Amino acid sequence: MFPLRRNRRLRANEAIRSLVRESIITPNDFLVPLFIMEGKGIKEEIASMPNYFRYSMDLLEVEIKQLWAMGLKSVLLFVKVPDNLKDNKGAEAYNPDGLMQRAIKTVKNVCPDMLVMTDVALDPYSIYGHDGIIENGRILNDETASVLAEMSISHAQAGADLVAPSDMMDGRVLAIREGLDEEGFINTGIMSYSAKYASAFYGPFRDALDSAPVDQQDIPKDKKTYQMDPANRIEAIRETQMDIDEGADIVMVKPGLCYLDIVRDLKNEIAVPIAVYQVSGEYAMLKAAAEKGWLDHDAVMMEQVTAIKRAGADIIASYFAKDVVKLLS
Ligand code: PBG
Repeated sequence: MFPLRRNRRLRANEAIRSLVRESIITPNDFLVPLFIMEGKGIKEEIASMPNYFRYSMDLLEVEIKQLWAMGLKSVLLFVKVPDNLKDNKGAEAYNPDGLMQRAIKTVKNVCPDMLVMTDVALDPYSIYGHDGIIENGRILNDETASVLAEMSISHAQAGADLVAPSDMMDGRVLAIREGLDEEGFINTGIMSYSAKYASAFYGPFRDALDSAPVDQQDIPKDKKTYQMDPANRIEAIRETQMDIDEGADIVMVKPGLCYLDIVRDLKNEIAVPIAVYQVSGEYAMLKAAAEKGWLDHDAVMMEQVTAIKRAGADIIASYFAKDVVKLLS
């Protein structure tokens, strides 16, 4: 008789497939990135991110209520900083009345139970579009880490639950942890972007915040001196272990799809929750292909988030969060 084992028995119908399914997507898996800008009554579509928007504060309130009603309980905030407030050192980043600080308060005000995470990096505040302070064409590490600690304290003061350093400076998690503790914010957590690669998939995000590195002499054109080389794997374990040792509560791999081997490596090595950021370029790619009728949007979207979870993600930061939850319900 041939064959002895028939694996297709467990795939015969939806009932048995759902019985043996290993990875299940629920609204609890998602962290929703949100872009906030100055102004009133503004909900502005991002050109390279179809159906994704920047919100002014009043419409952020509406969006937050909607997310909560859908069962999406965690947000990751980003701000589009007006050009006149940008400098080299990110002074605006820890302005107690800055856009981010007001956004945190707004979210907590309309929805006190919504978990608020904040992006901590200088690029939206930098005249050069870099994640660190620049001197003689180089990104200063330790000086930048100090500013990130100030910035984190000011986010904690405004009410952030976790701060999320996305800059890849060395030692910044420790600087932030010490800064928060000294100010009494012992319960404010850190989700560090620990294995963040120098990826070309961040393009649409930089459009959203107008935060791309400037094309100027003596200013590095890319982020390769601080973000990781896509060719490296062992380094991701080293980076992530370091962040955990320095006090990270949650670690992250970014981007998602091209880096799921890294997610699995980390899952096997470490014992803190792992977030995966399915980034702007991944979102844009699928939206564009679906618009052309070349891919089935919903099917590919579900396949992608399921693959991220299967690889070992505990948390998925994704621009598809609302689309997924609508599809599930
Ligand atoms: C800022 C930051 C970036 C992203 C998240 N935080 C851009 C970058 O590092 O250039 C990218 C997110 C996305 O592409 O969706 N440090």
